[in-house]
Amino acid sequence: MIEVRHLKKSFGAQLILDDISFRIENSESVAIIGRSGGGKSVLLKHIIGLLQPDAGDVLVDDENIVAMNERQLLRVRRKFGMVFQGAALFDSMTVAENVAFGLRRHEHLTEAEIAKRVAATLDMVDLPGTENKNPAELSGGMRKRVGLARAIIYEPQIVLYDEPTTGLDPIVSDSIDKLIIRVRDHLNVTSIVVTHDMRSARRVGNRVMLLHEKKIYANGTPEEIFTSHDAVVRQFVDGVADAKETII
Ligand SMILES: Nc1ncnc2c1ncn2[C@@H]1O[C@H](COP(=O)(O)OP(=O)(O)O)[C@@H](O)[C@H]1O
Ligand SMILES: [Mg+2]
Repeated sequence: MIEVRHLKKSFGAQLILDDISFRIENSESVAIIGRSGGGKSVLLKHIIGLLQPDAGDVLVDDENIVAMNERQLLRVRRKFGMVFQGAALFDSMTVAENVAFGLRRHEHLTEAEIAKRVAATLDMVDLPGTENKNPAELSGGMRKRVGLARAIIYEPQIVLYDEPTTGLDPIVSDSIDKLIIRVRDHLNVTSIVVTHDMRSARRVGNRVMLLHEKKIYANGTPEEIFTSHDAVVRQFVDGVADAKETII
């Protein structure tokens, strides 16, 4: 369970998040949508304690992480797998080394056990047998899959995805969405997917939250959001390519 209460964040004079509150139950799958530059990545970083709010609380399984020191945060972060925007792979390492990265830090396993876990995880993301490839040899979609494999190899309770389909063509985006759903169902994880791709939000979210003008402007089932008559919600839902131009 994740609960954000009255969270506020500014960078210098720029207010980014203003009195954000929501709750995400275990096994839920939530899509966070909103315009580019609106604070979605900043919000995700607060959920894993990479950023500190100016005010408010972030509770993970009823523990307030805002007051935690780095050592306590490390323990909480092990509940999370994070798929960063732009895959963020180490190009000097093989696919297998990238995928095993979190595992090596967290657990004491033999090389054979690690190899087995890596192989099983690469299977899960439809990249069997790619262990010895170099990330630079891979397509954008394949890099995203490796990023996902790295995030889920230690079987986190919660997986955070930051723009998992941004920059991918619609067919590859589709396959990434299917993987997100597969991971959710096979590992029974809580998923939080930040996206500005409405098709993706509709497919992967059991719930959709719209971050707009520094606030959670709308929060409902995909059905509620996609049939909303609210003018602001409609502009997002109808896929206005860059909402900046039309929302004042
Ligand atoms: N570490 C930081 N320091 C200063 N400004 C930041 C920092 N991180 C993000 N910002 C600013 O916060 C705003 C929201 O950014 P972000 O959360 O990345 O937007 P989104 O993910 O919705 O596209 C942007 O104006 C960005 O420049
Ligand atoms: Mg972002």
